[in-house]
Amino acid sequence: MSEKIRVLLNEEEVDKRIQEVADKINQDYAGRHIHLICVLKGGVFFMCELAKRITVPVSLDFMSVSSYGSDTKSSGVVKIVKDLDESLAGKDVLVVEDIVDSGRTLSYLLQILRDRKPASVRLCTLLDKPERRVVPVSVDYTCFEIPDEFVVGFGLDYAQKYRNLPYIGVVEFTEDDKE
Ligand code: IMP
Ligand code: MG
Repeated sequence: MSEKIRVLLNEEEVDKRIQEVADKINQDYAGRHIHLICVLKGGVFFMCELAKRITVPVSLDFMSVSSYGSDTKSSGVVKIVKDLDESLAGKDVLVVEDIVDSGRTLSYLLQILRDRKPASVRLCTLLDKPERRVVPVSVDYTCFEIPDEFVVGFGLDYAQKYRNLPYIGVVEFTEDDKE
């Protein structure tokens, strides 16, 4: 078996849409300071691209919550792998995620963050697969809703590969040709 990547959203489309979402965030948070929380590792490319386009003051923190093993199936297990460095008390928190799939990770994570008494918590995701939702999650900013396909690139991986692709692609598996 070999893997091929079919482009779903090219680099130009992704960049253009991130700018649109950043423009909306800049309007919504005018006069405020945004505390961006990146969910590692998948959210890191999106967080950087988004943060570069935010014009109100921002601070950054990072958290790692794991719900997936090394393949394309959810283990259903959610655990904190790395916690935040800073307190959230009184802050306007914007969680930046790569993708909302079943919603298990985010519903768990948002609950933990709300318990830390921030002034507000909103969620911004690069991708959303609404068809796959098992646990309801309210998403405040979505760049793209996509069909139920396993995607990689822009931070998203398949077995830790392809995070560095500057576009979003679907992994396709093909039988190798045998002579
Ligand atoms: P959820 O808890 O099912 O919503 O999934 C959360 C995590 O699963 C995401 O943050 C991703 O790390 C991973 N994930 C879900 N769908 C995909 C995909 O299509 N490609 C790569 N990772 C995915
Ligand atoms: Mg993620």
